[in-house]
Amino acid sequence: MDRKPLQLRYYGDPTLRRKADAVETVDPETRRIIEAMFDCMYRERGIGLAAPQVGIARRIFVVDVEGEGGERTKLALVNPEIKEKRGSVTGEEGCLSIPGIHEDVKRHAEVVFEGLNERGERVLVPAQGLLARALQHELDHLDGILFIDRLSAIRRKLLEPKLARMQARDDREPEPSPSATPSF
Ligand code: NI
Repeated sequence: MDRKPLQLRYYGDPTLRRKADAVETVDPETRRIIEAMFDCMYRERGIGLAAPQVGIARRIFVVDVEGEGGERTKLALVNPEIKEKRGSVTGEEGCLSIPGIHEDVKRHAEVVFEGLNERGERVLVPAQGLLARALQHELDHLDGILFIDRLSAIRRKLLEPKLARMQARDDREPEPSPSATPSF
């Protein structure tokens, strides 16, 4: 793998719409990808990033989320799955790959994720609040699902013209910086 910085892919890029492949072994290349993904995420001021968002169709994501109590969770998960889920909660989301659009999305309120860390060890990640939201948003990315797919039909329809222009790549709005809405 070359060492060029990873480039963020935007709405309309086909990698964002395919189901990413499982990682067979967490090897040095996987660790290089994870490191480069953290760099890209911080550069773009996101709190989460999935590999398909940088054109890599593998089941890897990274998050760095600060909880309400100020506790910080920085982690990479390879081949992640939801093991437990409870309740539901609606909150505003943005996506680094769909800049300029922020919408309320309903997610499980509490989740337990299972996956491999950057050393290839199996880990369980219990999460609520913003971390739970970020993990679910990133898992969706690995299945080719974008947060706009989870909006009501009416909300989605209202966004159609903007999305169509974005897909045509002539109307990519710069993310207002800093945005109050978390993007991942
Ligand atoms: Ni996203």
